[in-house]
Amino acid sequence: MRFDPYTAADEAAAALTERCKAPSVAVVLGSGLGAFADRLHEPTIVPYGEIPHFPSVGVRGHAGRLVVGSLGPDGPRVAALAGRVHLYEGHSPAQVVHPVRTLWKWGVRGLMLTNAAGGIKAELSPGNLMLIVDHINLTGKNPLVGPADPRLGPRFPDMSAAYDPELCDALRAAAKDRGVALREGVYTGLAGPSYETPAEIRMLAVLGGDAVGMSTVAEVIAARHAGLRVCGVSCITNLAAGLSAEPLDHAEVEATAGEARSDFIALLEEGLSRIDELMERGA
Ligand code: HPA
Repeated sequence: MRFDPYTAADEAAAALTERCKAPSVAVVLGSGLGAFADRLHEPTIVPYGEIPHFPSVGVRGHAGRLVVGSLGPDGPRVAALAGRVHLYEGHSPAQVVHPVRTLWKWGVRGLMLTNAAGGIKAELSPGNLMLIVDHINLTGKNPLVGPADPRLGPRFPDMSAAYDPELCDALRAAAKDRGVALREGVYTGLAGPSYETPAEIRMLAVLGGDAVGMSTVAEVIAARHAGLRVCGVSCITNLAAGLSAEPLDHAEVEATAGEARSDFIALLEEGLSRIDELMERGA
């Protein structure tokens, strides 16, 4: 049978509802950043294999489980997706965004996407965290291509403030509060899986890209389509191709993401709690 995105999300959400009530806020954890999920208190852990239509997750550093738990003993409950599916694994764009649509059907209202990315603009160094203020979709794919399904969202969704200004402000305030340096920039999403050539990186810089990666853009499009409020953070794990003498390597990406762990965790703990407050206020 053809994969019907709405029915698939509905079935997956129903399976999650059987396990626990949806929190207001969720985060998708990128390569090497999955450790955040282990910090959640009184966790309910749901392996992706137990959620209908979730594809198995192939890349090292992506564990493939949804963890629901609270941010500290008295903090709000959030959901963390450790591990995501990528276009480069051969999944269709609809499959790539199925977890995001599942969160929406389940009842989540605010979503943070995180990723590992290569730094393009000069101010970005490995280990930096970057607030994503906008993106450029260069994957050649859009998850909304196909028959319009009004249950999922409008035919032509607005993307002019895809990264919600209030959620971005909440993350800026969280960073300041926890003494975490938070850069800002535009994320360019490419299909991968080969890293870029130096000429491609020079092109991305001309186009206005500050960082580059292989995820996130399709998820943001589907989330905005569904009316979720979205924000994003990149962990800069390397200088983009041609900007350093070193060849690019996934092991380095994971190792650098691990080194940024304490800042990343502090930013997420404070940021998600502020975003939860915004959602609860219905702002
Ligand atoms: N390019 C694309 N994706 C990435 C990079 C990069 O340099 N670093 C981490 N993910």
